[in-house]
Amino acid sequence: MTIQKKPLGTLGVEITGVDVGRDLSGGNGDNLFGDIRQAWQEAGGLMVIRDQSIDQQQHIDFSRRFGPLFHDDGQPPLQDTVSRYLHPDYPQIYRVSNKVDAKGEPTGRKGAGTYWHSDVSFRDRPAQASILYAIQIPPYGGDTIFADMAAAYDALSGGMKAMLGNLNAVHDFAVAAATQYAKPVVIDKDFDGANQCVHPIVRTHADTGRKSLYVNPGFTSHIEGFTAEESRPILDHLYKHATQPEFLYRHAWQPHDILVWDNRTLMHYAVSDYAADRYMERTTVIGERPV
Ligand code: OGA
Ligand code: MN
Repeated sequence: MTIQKKPLGTLGVEITGVDVGRDLSGGNGDNLFGDIRQAWQEAGGLMVIRDQSIDQQQHIDFSRRFGPLFHDDGQPPLQDTVSRYLHPDYPQIYRVSNKVDAKGEPTGRKGAGTYWHSDVSFRDRPAQASILYAIQIPPYGGDTIFADMAAAYDALSGGMKAMLGNLNAVHDFAVAAATQYAKPVVIDKDFDGANQCVHPIVRTHADTGRKSLYVNPGFTSHIEGFTAEESRPILDHLYKHATQPEFLYRHAWQPHDILVWDNRTLMHYAVSDYAADRYMERTTVIGERPV
């Protein structure tokens, strides 16, 4: 069995000819997964697999091929603030949705990721891949934009690369809690230190060896050893640089897309330009400590 590949901008690939729920189990599953994973990495960290029909367990099984998941047995949970949005039967599944149920309760986190960020970068071991399955999409709007942080790094001057290569940045869930979450939903325990960490500003990809910028407006508070005021212009420059159209791909969802993105080398932004129902489910693969 061979898969078909089509480039998505400069940073991704569209895969057809595979049924994730069926073809990845059994004897040939490992080879096929190897091909898919390789295509994903070679393309630059984004992959869409169209027309998939998977249940929650199949979503989890596929995701575990990339690595352990947040909320797997013996693995850390996501931050407590999002616990209320997890699937009641499958805690590995984080629901992203603006829909409310018959009782008026949210069916997921509304407005998730409507800012530039890399998932869970505030942990010592942040997200590797995030795997988002589109179950219901609005008739228009609700795209997700990705920024290629490896291409953005490559395009910096030698002087900037040399300077950044010696610097670390502090990532803190409190940055997002203060700006992106309604106050009553934020759980205080999320400020106890587990959601704060220091990462190199330039990280080297564990599989491809490519360097990427690893700072994001959503979670990065400041450059280690610099004041907030000193950090601001440098970080703002990097964000402006990395979000130039040349480094972006905008994904217009189709129902039953599975999108896999590599948080080690991409930032993303959920465009909040729709009111109709949108319902998606995400698993999150735990990555290595950035170096
Ligand atoms: C996410 C996220 C993007 C979207 O699930 O991590 O940022 O378009 N969502 O819903
Ligand atoms: Mn996200």
